[in-house]
Amino acid sequence: MHRELAGITELARTEGPRSAAERMAETLAWRLSPARRSFARRLEHERVLEREFDERFGVDTWGESSLTEVGVPANKAREGNGIYRGIWADVFHEALRGTGLPVDDLTFVDYGAGKGKALLLASAYPFRRIVGVEFAPGLCEVARRNLAVFHSPTQRCFSLGVEGADALEWEPPAEPLLCFFFNPFSDEVMERVIARITESWYRIPRDIYLLYVNIRNTDEQARVFDRCPELTLLRRDRHALLAKVTPHVVHECPAAPFLTPE
Ligand SMILES: C[S@@+](CC[C@H](N)C(=O)[O-])C[C@H]1O[C@@H](n2cnc3c(N)ncnc32)[C@H](O)[C@@H]1O
Repeated sequence: MHRELAGITELARTEGPRSAAERMAETLAWRLSPARRSFARRLEHERVLEREFDERFGVDTWGESSLTEVGVPANKAREGNGIYRGIWADVFHEALRGTGLPVDDLTFVDYGAGKGKALLLASAYPFRRIVGVEFAPGLCEVARRNLAVFHSPTQRCFSLGVEGADALEWEPPAEPLLCFFFNPFSDEVMERVIARITESWYRIPRDIYLLYVNIRNTDEQARVFDRCPELTLLRRDRHALLAKVTPHVVHECPAAPFLTPE
């Protein structure tokens, strides 16, 4: 709660009392919801697993960091949902297996790569290559260190990298993609990032899948994917939503019959 109050105070200072009041209402609604208690229990359990993962592989992906503390300006941090948190391994694997996609030909792109946890987990699959995009300089540095030291007996992809960039300005690679999002953005930023991806598809048509993961519920942002006409929803459950960029065909009306005046 201390961190949330600090965030609300920061918001009141940078964006005014209205935004702060809205954030306070959202925070209270979540704190009072019955789902929160079971989520809090799960969080405790996952924290233990996160520490075990870090110890086992000699990396640092654990914990949460406020984005303003890792070099992101306050307005950008708010658009980026305020905090870094690494994806939980079981949720990641379930979401990826749930896609049912053969991944050999796909490049895995983690939009908002944080400390690189999803990149490390993705390396257990035979992706063509794996790349992360992260705008927080402090997190990017940690991710690069993690990629450099990580070795796993189950690793199947060895081409891993992270680029320090804002997802809103980053150009998606011109190859078949699986774009992964672990709840990194506000609705508005997500819409703009999806628009960049679909524009890229129109320039270079290829397979592009979007996998959105939310450890609470995909309901939180599913509407953004639903209202994009270039996306076809392939699958959705509580934690994962899979969509594919598909051409938006404009159906032309058949020519009106020629009418002869009577
Ligand atoms: C919830 S964390 C997810 C970390 C990582 N994807 C994982 O699954 O372990 C979201 C990350 O998105 C990053 N982010 C938010 N907005 C961004 C933007 N516009 N461009 C690049 N990174 C962004 C944040 O800095 C944060 O590290």
